[in-house]
Amino acid sequence: MLRDLGGGLVMRRATEADAERLGAFNADVLRGQDAPDPAPWMDAWTRDLISGHHPTFRADSALVVEDPREKSIVASMILLSHTWTYAGVPLSVGQPEIVGTRAEFRARGLVRAMFEVAHAWSAERGHQLLAINGIPWFYRQFGYEMALELGGGPRLFTPGLAAGVKQAAPPFRLRAATDADAPVLAATSAHAGQRYLVTAPRDEGAWRYMIGGRSAGSAASSAVRIIESQAGEAVGFVEHVARLWGPGMPVREIEVRSGVSWRAVAYPLLAYLCETGEAYAREAKSELGFIDCWMLGTAHPFAGVVQFSGARRPYAYYLRTPDLPDLLRRLTPVLERRLAASPFVGHTGELRLSFYRNGVRLVIEGGRIKSVDAWSPPRIAIGLDFSLPSADDRRPSAAFPDLTFLQLLFGYRSLDELEAAFPDCVTRGQEPRALLQVLFPKAPSKVWPIL
Ligand SMILES: CC(C)(COP(=O)(O)OP(=O)(O)OC[C@H]1O[C@@H](n2cnc3c(N)ncnc32)[C@H](O)[C@@H]1OP(=O)(O)O)[C@@H](O)C(=O)NCCC(=O)NCCS
Repeated sequence: MLRDLGGGLVMRRATEADAERLGAFNADVLRGQDAPDPAPWMDAWTRDLISGHHPTFRADSALVVEDPREKSIVASMILLSHTWTYAGVPLSVGQPEIVGTRAEFRARGLVRAMFEVAHAWSAERGHQLLAINGIPWFYRQFGYEMALELGGGPRLFTPGLAAGVKQAAPPFRLRAATDADAPVLAATSAHAGQRYLVTAPRDEGAWRYMIGGRSAGSAASSAVRIIESQAGEAVGFVEHVARLWGPGMPVREIEVRSGVSWRAVAYPLLAYLCETGEAYAREAKSELGFIDCWMLGTAHPFAGVVQFSGARRPYAYYLRTPDLPDLLRRLTPVLERRLAASPFVGHTGELRLSFYRNGVRLVIEGGRIKSVDAWSPPRIAIGLDFSLPSADDRRPSAAFPDLTFLQLLFGYRSLDELEAAFPDCVTRGQEPRALLQVLFPKAPSKVWPIL
């Protein structure tokens, strides 16, 4: 037992023997919004995760709250571990997921209690960043800020599309991926990763798990298809859900190898997606309405080569940085590269960033980041603060309310956008302003870890 939560409830780690009960719990609690029935894909996903066959996850990284007398699970969550990269620097990331409490037990702090334990596990594992794909606002309570783009992307309505993209001699065709494709998939996804600030790299093992490791019915499973030339040379891949969601054919990922034309691939790929979506619609006795590239993100090249008819608004990952100065120290090679390539090359100075109750100080000497330390804005400067330039080095160079600095650090919003959204995001004059713009430019990220 990890904790006695009172009222007969205890918190403990899950074991593989919980597979059936935990699968049924998650299918029930994490069903679709207003859905009359449980979600079998959550059951399948849970079983895959705690079966012992997942590449990085084991049952003892799942938490359950239960009433041992009745043997009924009333709340649960899991903590995954990943390695992501920030401009090439590897970061150890923890991802809380599959969080739920049975309706009768809500709003009495069960998830809060599980997060306390999960955050302690995360600290033991040395995570430098935590990330959640979760319901709106809720996780802000546990120290998270929405600070990394998640999904969004173009939509193409399908009536008439199949005929429009049909080619007499298509240059490419699609086929199911096999384990033998893992090297080309890993190389192609690594090439695509260069487009993004934050990525979740997939090695060959991760790709093999994607191709054949998951139950077909799992919420996390995708069909992986290779795009190949008529001579059989792999030029790219598409990853899509193997059924329709309502009238939409959900496409998670499309990438092509270096040197391959997106435009040349587009029609054969769309023809495949129309044909496959139609087949899924026949199976489900429904109709295909649109191709929904809902996870490509706003910076993806595919949206630029075809006239799409709409787009889905992106969502955001919640991020939490347990030790921000430590994270910034790890990122100093990136910050120094940005400085060196800027008008601030060789700069010497200080950046005191206030988050109003705490902050961080970066000391820069000759273009190198000499130190990054936690810094608390002293309360003793004289008079009011109008954010005007000042010789008093007790005043912050810039201030960001709450956790909004994370939006800048992770390239999610530019300094201008933060200033427009938060009147209490302020910079003290042009030097810190320009320096912050150089050190923390807006940049697209894309993260879809192996779940
Ligand atoms: C969202 C959910 C997980 C919350 O579980 P819970 O056990 O009620 O959470 P807690 O009681 O620990 O909540 C912590 C705090 O948030 C509040 N809270 C609970 N649900 C909330 C919600 N949906 N939005 C905002 N605050 C909420 C609680 O009242 C509590 O406040 P307090 O600390 O001031 O007392 C639960 O409602 C649930 O399972 N919903 C359906 C599935 C779901 O959406 N899961 C999340 C997937 S990302």
